[in-house]
Amino acid sequence: MIIAVDGPSGSGKSSTARGVANRLGLRYLDTGATYRAVTWSAVERGLDLDDTAAVAQRARELVLEISTDPDDQFVIADGTDITAAIREPRISEVVSKIATNLDVRKELIRRQRAIIDKAQTDGGIVVEGRDIATVVATDAELKVLLTADQEARMARRGAELAAGSVTAAELRDQIVRRDADDSTVSEFQVASDGAVTIDSTDLTLEEVVDVISRLATE
Ligand code: CDP
Repeated sequence: MIIAVDGPSGSGKSSTARGVANRLGLRYLDTGATYRAVTWSAVERGLDLDDTAAVAQRARELVLEISTDPDDQFVIADGTDITAAIREPRISEVVSKIATNLDVRKELIRRQRAIIDKAQTDGGIVVEGRDIATVVATDAELKVLLTADQEARMARRGAELAAGSVTAAELRDQIVRRDADDSTVSEFQVASDGAVTIDSTDLTLEEVVDVISRLATE
């Protein structure tokens, strides 16, 4: 069983996908974390992020271990635990640039598919991202496109605000800019064949998890 959960930044897809995996006893893969890991590595090495060949080479060489346990998420890159580091604003600000590098995508999609294949022997997996239903796992049994209006998505990033790492204006800029960058990748957020669109603006996390879990077990 493969459940694809696609959606933009702040749509609640991470908490939702983890919640569904927990409810149904499935593995969980955050594909965004793979793009963040390559970004972290490229930044750490001081690579020119516009040098697409060098960044793609880094993506191919990176030794990446990513947890598929919904209750214990971690990312280890070349032996360094980068679970927290990949969420820092310096990474969020540039990750879309790395994600529009087609050779990086090719490499990461290959790795994501290997993780998904392996999880099939563990009963299945919930995979969250932007292009899961349209590219990564077109054969998913259930495809969900999670949306929410921009204000709701801003509000859900409130934790970052509260932590004082960004201002409200910076946060808005980040979301608007990331949406614009991501919209240049044609496979993103297109409702693929058979996908169910869920607008989570007025729903609680629990309600969204309920709806998806029900659809998956129908
Ligand atoms: O949830 P949020 O948008 O903050 O970020 P994420 O899911 O961690 O993804 C970070 C970035 O990785 C996105 O803005 C996309 O540019 C990219 N991404 C992608 O290209 N394809 C995916 N399947 C997942 C993420």
